[in-house]
Amino acid sequence: MCLTERIAVYPGSFDPITYGHLDIIKRGLSVFDRIIVAVLNNSRKAPLFTVNERVALIKESTKELPAVSVDSFDGLLMDYVRKKKVHVVLRGLRAISDVEYELQIASINKHLDPEIETCFMISSNRYSFLSSSMVKEVAKYGGSVHLLVPDAVERALEKKFM
Ligand code: PNS
Repeated sequence: MCLTERIAVYPGSFDPITYGHLDIIKRGLSVFDRIIVAVLNNSRKAPLFTVNERVALIKESTKELPAVSVDSFDGLLMDYVRKKKVHVVLRGLRAISDVEYELQIASINKHLDPEIETCFMISSNRYSFLSSSMVKEVAKYGGSVHLLVPDAVERALEKKFM
């Protein structure tokens, strides 16, 4: 019997977390014992939410999931994953359009650390169109994001665009 805990790091910008991300986290828990959601702090993108706000929104949205912890990281993902003594990175795949980008990330990460595997989980159909950027655009112009993001995120978006 193998008693080693299966842990995955689920990295991303999460600006903000959506139901699509939560779907991957929840389904990921059927494969992994623990998931560390890791928010990138040094993104090239200009985020709407600060890293602390993003971490707080993920914590609030996953508070019923004790096997999920939330953290942030700077620098290379592979350095962070190694530091955490984890061997698997979890990423969601929504559509074919994601594949090229994800292949690039997974390949460079494999080059940086061949011991660490990237595991892809296909998004549920109902979230295959959903992205943080779309959510921000809809919220910015006053559209409803109610079915797209957790309540805390909906409130936070309302505040940002008030
Ligand atoms: O949600 P995103 O923006 O698609 O996530 C991208 C992320 C955070 C996984 C990727 O940009 C990343 O890991 N950045 C950290 C820097 C790094 O390790 N770069 C080399 C691989 S891209």
